Amino acid sequence: MSILLVMSLQEIESELSQLKASALGKLAEITAETKDALETLKQFDHKYLSRSGLIRQCAQKISNVEAHEKPQLGQLINQLKDSVTESFNRKVEELKKAVGPKATTVLFDATIPGEQKSCGRYHPLYRTFFQIIDVFKWLGFDCAYGPEIESPYYNFEALNVPADHPSCDAFDTFYVADSHRNLLLRSHTSPVQIRTMEQVKPPIRIIVPGKVFRPDTPAPSRFPMFHQVEGLMVDTDITFANLKGVLDIFCKEIFGPATRTRFRPSFFPFTEPSAEVDISCVFCGGKGVTGSGENCPVCRGEGWIEILGCGMVHPNVFRHVKYDPEKYTGFAFGMGVERVAMLKHGINDIRLFTENHLSFLSQF
Ligand code: PHE
Repeated sequence: MSILLVMSLQEIESELSQLKASALGKLAEITAETKDALETLKQFDHKYLSRSGLIRQCAQKISNVEAHEKPQLGQLINQLKDSVTESFNRKVEELKKAVGPKATTVLFDATIPGEQKSCGRYHPLYRTFFQIIDVFKWLGFDCAYGPEIESPYYNFEALNVPADHPSCDAFDTFYVADSHRNLLLRSHTSPVQIRTMEQVKPPIRIIVPGKVFRPDTPAPSRFPMFHQVEGLMVDTDITFANLKGVLDIFCKEIFGPATRTRFRPSFFPFTEPSAEVDISCVFCGGKGVTGSGENCPVCRGEGWIEILGCGMVHPNVFRHVKYDPEKYTGFAFGMGVERVAMLKHGINDIRLFTENHLSFLSQF
């Protein structure tokens, strides 16, 4: 079938020169004396030079010639277009002189609304990411990164998570090589704590922005892939007071200076003591009730919202990376970026971040 479509270059060349002759002939016929000269010129433009015009249509013929002839044909079509455009422009100038300013009004319709170019912008999640990173950079933290596919050693073991801990469960983790159970999609950014400490000696002050994965069914507050920012600070005299100071400043920078923080005892295998940090509710200002006296829908009347997990680095974690736990202390924390973005912007469904609806994205 396709062989039948192949045309010789000579055939097409002769078609092109016929087209050129007819176009230039038509142009030559249009003079200042022609009835409705400008209108005729406009029609000429539409018939030959417009997007759907005869000259642009020639480009379709490129697919009808042999591969090695395609460049030559492309060149011929361009030459045709240039020469007709040039003659057309000359004709326009000629008529403008003869007809006067009216020519511009006919040939160029200034009343047609302009084409509005839409402007790209950052995804709301990445804007939040950058804001978080900026606060920690200002506090002297560097960014560190690690692989999204991890070994159980970095994701669990080195972080003092025992093999029978519920968070090692297959239901809590995506295993890449299921039969061997030797690789998994990292379930948090904490493995980068280990990777960093293996490579450098204290003092350490890093944050780790990145993607993490957990086998959750998508729901308004859950998604199998989300983003975290991990933090780690290690030196000889780091105390819980340093942790509180850094995170309190962070929360005030991100959620506003009136934000209060509260540290609630919690548990993570890789920190001791551990805490969850709550901030005063961004929606009701911590009152727990809305202006109309109803329970606040965001904090459910609590006045507080959980925002991140943190604690002092567990001595066993230091032992895994051969840091002396008698000499060094440190703190670590981890937060979900989606959660921060949702609270900052009043977004009530985490799935919106990945659905790519412009109506959602263009609000930010
Ligand atoms: N890795 C923890 C999580 O994903 C968060 C965390 C990081 C807690 C560092 C304490 C210290 O839930």
